[in-house]
Amino acid sequence: NRVVVLVSGSGTNLQSIIDNVNSGYLNIDIAAVISDRPGAYALERARLNGIEAICIPRKELGKQNFDRKLLETVEAFKPDLVVLAGFLTILSSEFVERFQGKIINIHPSLIPSFCGKGYYGERVHKAAIDYGVKVSGCTVHFVDAGTDTGPIIFQQAVEVKDDDTPETLARRILEHEHRLLPKAIKYFFEGRLKIRGRKVYISQS
Ligand code: GRF
Repeated sequence: NRVVVLVSGSGTNLQSIIDNVNSGYLNIDIAAVISDRPGAYALERARLNGIEAICIPRKELGKQNFDRKLLETVEAFKPDLVVLAGFLTILSSEFVERFQGKIINIHPSLIPSFCGKGYYGERVHKAAIDYGVKVSGCTVHFVDAGTDTGPIIFQQAVEVKDDDTPETLARRILEHEHRLLPKAIKYFFEGRLKIRGRKVYISQS
């Protein structure tokens, strides 16, 4: 059950995966944590937990070299699953094809709302608040060639309060992200996720 986690930011989703390994909920081996930018605190979280932490700086390398380097590096770990945990670079179609059906992503909205190009981090929550939705949430999905368009695994609705700011809404949703992503990883390795076209069927055991 080898997993490679791709990160870009603070790594609270990575931390929730690590915590769930330590608690015994997840029976996986986090083979490596790879960031597309230096200084991502997620790399420090990996180091603090004895997990190989690699930075492949997209800005310095440029998209072409970055894509090639990322694919090579991830392939070398022979992962059974690639998890995007707050990862902000769009994967190359080559990468997606290579790991088809074995890449999952967490997005902090109820896809297909407030997702796709330009919707990341607090922009997602600002858009939801500005639109005036009463409910937002988070989505864990398989990654396909599009952006935030792959078959949905789990979703969790979260109430938007009248006085919410992007920060307060982000914090409330993040708590559910930290539960939903490890659950999706567990179900994946238990063979309980069956993709049929656009739908993911979840078997009970
Ligand atoms: C979170 O909102 C997550 O939904 C999105 O990236 C943000 C930061 O995640 N994918 P993390 O704290 O770096 O895991």
